[in-house]
Amino acid sequence: MRTFAIAASVAVLALSSLVGPASADPIIIKFSHVVATDTPKGKASEKFKELAEKYTGGKVKIEVYPNSTLYKDKEELEALQLGSVQMLAPSNSKFGPLGIREFEVFDLPYILPDLKTLRKVTEGPLGLRLLKLLDSKGITGLAYWDNGFKQMSANKKLVTPGDYQGVKFRIQSSRVLQAQFKTLGSLPQVMAFGEVYQALQTGVVDGQENTWSNIYTQKMHEVQKYITETNHGYIGYVVIVNKKFWDELPADIRDQLTKAMKEATDFNNTQSQKENNDALAEIKKSGKSEIIKLTPEQDEAMRKAMESVYKDAAGRIGQSLIDEFQKEAKSTTN
Ligand code: LMR
Repeated sequence: MRTFAIAASVAVLALSSLVGPASADPIIIKFSHVVATDTPKGKASEKFKELAEKYTGGKVKIEVYPNSTLYKDKEELEALQLGSVQMLAPSNSKFGPLGIREFEVFDLPYILPDLKTLRKVTEGPLGLRLLKLLDSKGITGLAYWDNGFKQMSANKKLVTPGDYQGVKFRIQSSRVLQAQFKTLGSLPQVMAFGEVYQALQTGVVDGQENTWSNIYTQKMHEVQKYITETNHGYIGYVVIVNKKFWDELPADIRDQLTKAMKEATDFNNTQSQKENNDALAEIKKSGKSEIIKLTPEQDEAMRKAMESVYKDAAGRIGQSLIDEFQKEAKSTTN
């Protein structure tokens, strides 16, 4: 019986190697990310899956892996470059450590007043140029997806710059974010996103900065007594694919995927603000964390306290890039 089973499977194998893979086998795209499904990025990746599978008539299958189930922050970029995963949407902050320092500009405190302004930059010439820089790392940048603006949280009230003195903050691996907390006298500590909740809970760090949707879906508000509505920095993503994989796709498939990506991007960028507003409402409703609003004077003091971060960044990415970013942000043309 066993011999027969082995003989049969050998025959099947031999046959399939003769005719090659069945033509109906779909192309698999693994799309890995670190946040919950119920976030802007989580929902947009599901939207992309739905549209991509529909437009390619099932020739492509998108497997979405949320919540760091496949890879953590740094590992996911390495995996993409190696081709073990095909698609990711890391935050802008993740490209600096990869050697594309220009992306650090997105991390600068208070560089963007709102998402409309951000769009002028990402959809303008600078946005395109930044995407092109990824090519040299074997990465193709497909789109910019928003999350939103970051808030500060801790177990103590963070109101004045002086309140930040000596507080241990989890940060993404970013020279700008490191400088931002150092200038406030805090102790920044790089940590993968998936480890933040536990680090806050056990006191490995005292505080963190993130968007309302990330704070809520990771339950950080349950282990942080106070969240200050600072809106001091931006978190957004670049949807990327392994360049070789992308270039080698049949042209018609690539076109359908591009169309699906465009629509998923519109979907993401029209609903990310709402996702964050809804998360804020849920956090308020939970009563687990007190939300602190700053007066205009307190807000101004925070801005002033972080000014030196620009100088520090200019030394690495160039003042002209910061100027260009700010000029495009202010422009009224696009
Ligand atoms: C973080 O690490 O805080 C964020 O980049 C996570 C994310 O992808 O939104």
